[in-house]
Amino acid sequence: MTERLEISFSTFDAKPEATTVVLAGDELAMGERTRALDKRTDSAITEASGAAEFHGAAKSSIEILAPRGGAMRRLIVLGVGKASEAGELDLINLGGQAMGQILARKGKSATLMAELPGLGGQKAAQAAADMALGALLRQYEFSKYKTRRKDEENGHEKDGLIRLVVQCDQPEKAEECFARHRAVAKGVMLARDLVNEPANTLGPLEFAACAEGLSASGLEVSILDEAAMQERGMGALLAVSQGSARPARLVVMQWNGAKSKRTKPVCFVGKGVVFDTGGISMKPAAGMEDMKGDMAGAACVTGLMLALAERKAAVNAVGLIGVVENMPSATATRPGDIVTSMSGQTIEVLNTDAEGRLVLADVVHYAQEEYKPRLIIDLATLTGAIIVALGKEYAGLFCNDDKLANELCAAGEATGDKVWRMPLSREYDKLMDSKNADMKNIGGRWGGAITGAQFIGRFIKDGLPWGHIDLAGVAMDSKRSDTSTGWASGWGVRLLDRLVSDNYEKTDK
Ligand code: BES
Ligand code: MN
Ligand code: ZN
Repeated sequence: MTERLEISFSTFDAKPEATTVVLAGDELAMGERTRALDKRTDSAITEASGAAEFHGAAKSSIEILAPRGGAMRRLIVLGVGKASEAGELDLINLGGQAMGQILARKGKSATLMAELPGLGGQKAAQAAADMALGALLRQYEFSKYKTRRKDEENGHEKDGLIRLVVQCDQPEKAEECFARHRAVAKGVMLARDLVNEPANTLGPLEFAACAEGLSASGLEVSILDEAAMQERGMGALLAVSQGSARPARLVVMQWNGAKSKRTKPVCFVGKGVVFDTGGISMKPAAGMEDMKGDMAGAACVTGLMLALAERKAAVNAVGLIGVVENMPSATATRPGDIVTSMSGQTIEVLNTDAEGRLVLADVVHYAQEEYKPRLIIDLATLTGAIIVALGKEYAGLFCNDDKLANELCAAGEATGDKVWRMPLSREYDKLMDSKNADMKNIGGRWGGAITGAQFIGRFIKDGLPWGHIDLAGVAMDSKRSDTSTGWASGWGVRLLDRLVSDNYEKTDK
């Protein structure tokens, strides 16, 4: 991961950089400092706005070159629309839009005047920090394999830093608010890096080594190799891995930030299939390259654990990821094979492409045995069916506990990593019954995302609050947005960080 953006905060009195972005609401509503800048530049903003029929509508912008009386070479006026109604997420997106404007132009340093009419005091400092977060998330790109870059033509050195100075009234306060955002953004960008990385360079061992490196941030990381998993009877996870030349790993990342070490942890489990060919039930060629992202659940958990550690969250949390590769080979699991999971339940593998649930079955069981969590949330790019159901806006949430479901939905709306609750019930569960074993790993043609969830549910102990998030539609192959250049979105890190901070940090039970 290369951070190429250096963000700092200053007062409005600092000399602006060559590229400066200012904000204007509907009917060209400007903050006091922006209006003063307009005056200083011979009304460049009002004049140019008139000429361009720019009124400050959301997502519109104008560019003024070499305005008189200002030190800047380029003045970009970004429309905000109804400025007084801007919430946290709008401000983050606005910062992302500003960074989009900056990156589209030449130059290595830029100023963002983080001023909106109606935003003052502590709120203004927080708003400046929120915009800075959006800018930071937007500047991410996966460029390590590009030996020539368009950026260089724009004067950005390869992997060189870009400087962004965010102007606001109370820069020290904004810096304080931003410290936390910066920690979470690190987690988001780590998740993106992991999802973007191709499978030839990110196998289970490389993924595990990356997680191990996070101990530098204060995480306790331990790793189970195949012998250790064999010993514990993880026959479901190992059945997925056995066709690959690269051995599986189960990685555990622990963060003990609560007052008492004995506080029951919140547990996050991620599907980490570094590449999913489908195995013997092989996938068609078209689009198979996307299956390098089939470890997005594990990437999210890893990014989340880094975020919690970096911001020193007051929570005990455990992140567990099952990292395997699903390959066809002479040693691969065959359709019809029956395997025994760590829980003792047997599974008839009717389709080797329904591999994620096999991995999760053993990892969620191990998580419960080993860590006695207060709740467990698993994240997996589990089914294409969830994309059919919800498209690419919402992830699917399956949850046996209304309180946890509501907390997740609320955290989703707050962060923009949105989840939509889907059903669980006995009738769906029955579809997994098998003639030859305790269950089969597919549930028939209909409701594929639901039967996938029900399968994992069979490995959750009665009474334990559990959520399953199917993020196949949102974590990879995603559209570009205000805060993401696309493909790997880093989805879920901000959602779960928010879930923790809103609900599991204050109470120390
Ligand atoms: N990794 C896939 C699901 C997936 C599909 C993720 C598209 C991202 C984009 C998963 O392992 C899979 O193959 N699921 C099967 C399940 C089926 C065989 C029951 C599917 O969705 O077709
Ligand atoms: Mn599969
Ligand atoms: Zn898969």
